[in-house]
Amino acid sequence: MFSKTWNTESGFGNDVYMKFYKINSFYIISKMKNHKKIKSKLLKLIDKMPTSSLDKISNTDWSLAKEYKREYLHYFYKKITPCMNEIAKEFKSQRWEIHNGWFQQYRKQDSHPWHNHNNANFTNVYYLELPNKKMTTALKCNGSIVNVEAQEGDLVTFPAHIFHRSQPNISDKQKTVIAFNSDFYMGQ
Ligand SMILES: [Fe+2]
Repeated sequence: MFSKTWNTESGFGNDVYMKFYKINSFYIISKMKNHKKIKSKLLKLIDKMPTSSLDKISNTDWSLAKEYKREYLHYFYKKITPCMNEIAKEFKSQRWEIHNGWFQQYRKQDSHPWHNHNNANFTNVYYLELPNKKMTTALKCNGSIVNVEAQEGDLVTFPAHIFHRSQPNISDKQKTVIAFNSDFYMGQ
């Protein structure tokens, strides 16, 4: 816990007093049924997508037009519906929604630096190909770095404001994830 006074250079021109209070956070791991079957189908569908690199990620559709037909996402969203319904039940949420989804393929030494996601209350990552358990997502929370404890076929869900990164791919095999942003509506 700490406090500091921050003098704004613009805006209202007043001193703003802030005090940060730490609270606990969490992540959820959902196990996807029939991962092997889903994996083979999804990888084939992803292979049909145009290839495009972004920074240190060898292949991703992140920059592709939102209107581009993504058959793999259509299939994937159907498969994760039971997991999303289960999470909603735990949250006592009446409704959930996925805003956007994309794939990322990390080849040797590929990585994704610290970042968080906007316009969603949760971020989700499905480990479609995970050659090494040390290459899951790292989360930064309350000054600590936590490596998500997951294996291939798991879906991790965590609050979207949490800074996270994909560490360098240290293996010779490819790591593939499908990431998406979601909202679980509570009390509405
Ligand atoms: Fe992310």
